[in-house]
Amino acid sequence: MTYSTDPITTPSGTPMPSASLMFDLRGPGIPGGNTPKSAELGSGTAIGRRIAIGGRFERAAAGPGCDDVRMRLSYRRPSCQWELRPGEIHVCSVALAASPGCIAHLEGVLSPEERRRACRFRTAALWEAFVAGRGILRTILGGCLKLPPSNVPLDYGERGKPRICGGYRLRFNLSHSGGQALYALALDCEVGVDLEQIRPMPDCDSIAARFFSAAEVRDLLSVPPDQRVEAFFACWTRKEAYVKAVGDGLCLPLDSFRVSMLPSEPPQLDATGDSHEWSLFDVSPGQGYAAALVGERSRTEVYGWAFSDAEECTGYFG
Ligand SMILES: CC(C)(COP(=O)(O)OP(=O)(O)OC[C@H]1O[C@@H](n2cnc3c(N)ncnc32)[C@H](O)[C@@H]1OP(=O)(O)O)[C@@H](O)C(=O)NCCC(=O)NCCS
Repeated sequence: MTYSTDPITTPSGTPMPSASLMFDLRGPGIPGGNTPKSAELGSGTAIGRRIAIGGRFERAAAGPGCDDVRMRLSYRRPSCQWELRPGEIHVCSVALAASPGCIAHLEGVLSPEERRRACRFRTAALWEAFVAGRGILRTILGGCLKLPPSNVPLDYGERGKPRICGGYRLRFNLSHSGGQALYALALDCEVGVDLEQIRPMPDCDSIAARFFSAAEVRDLLSVPPDQRVEAFFACWTRKEAYVKAVGDGLCLPLDSFRVSMLPSEPPQLDATGDSHEWSLFDVSPGQGYAAALVGERSRTEVYGWAFSDAEECTGYFG
């Protein structure tokens, strides 16, 4: 994969300002400003190194004289002006709840092919979730690219990864689960994100035995039973975020690489043989959800932005 280092241009060749995406978003600012801070996690293979979260990161003490290297992204409401710069990954957490009027609006921004796909869902709830998820995606991307959402030129990679065609530098990925969606955005940098609502998983050991690497199965079985489901979802989301960043999805054998999952360990990815270097982050949007983000290693600033429903999100980006 090659990445353009040209300034951002529209398909017609108009350069975007200062090689970054400026968001002139109306709405309340974040009290205390939006100055990123960061922290080194340490060295290792594709380890989440720095997380800046709307001005702060969460970093817990692990014990006397010892910093806990686990960091979890905390999400903030977006500030008035939101800028996506090279070297950053922004993750938007959006609750997919939407009023009938908002759903009708979002349906209106879908392409004819997307509307056909929506109609193939068997229940109204699934139809609505797809319309909301895809309509919000188009609205966010349209806001970034200064295009009407319906004009965002989307297509798909060989293995189904959605992407923007036409020479734009913006890359994205998305995931949805349990009425919640995560959208990851970056410039010139492939990203993959995976979100799962944590739910009872009585067969997690056998799923792990089937899909995980031998080392991961050993790790999982070493976790006390009362923490095992959480470890399973940490592992699962980290693996899916990686296969989605690469773009292969589940065509890439899940046992061909290893991720960390022990509650005491930071997110780590060991994908020997992959010439790309990746960073892995924990980006759970809240209690009851596991989520992971993978981006190219040089992209180490991660910001999280939360929208409480589809209306709020479309209000900012639309
Ligand atoms: C991508 C995949 C891992 C998604 O996992 P999931 O947990 O079920 O769903 P998520 O909500 O996390 O992600 C879904 C989104 O991933 C994106 N996606 C689809 N294929 C992708 C790929 N190859 N790489 C990255 N992202 C992909 C899409 O945007 C999709 O959203 P949409 O359904 O609204 O269009 C999985 O569906 C997959 O591998 N699909 C590829 C094709 C396939 O099924 N291959 C079978 C083996 S060869």
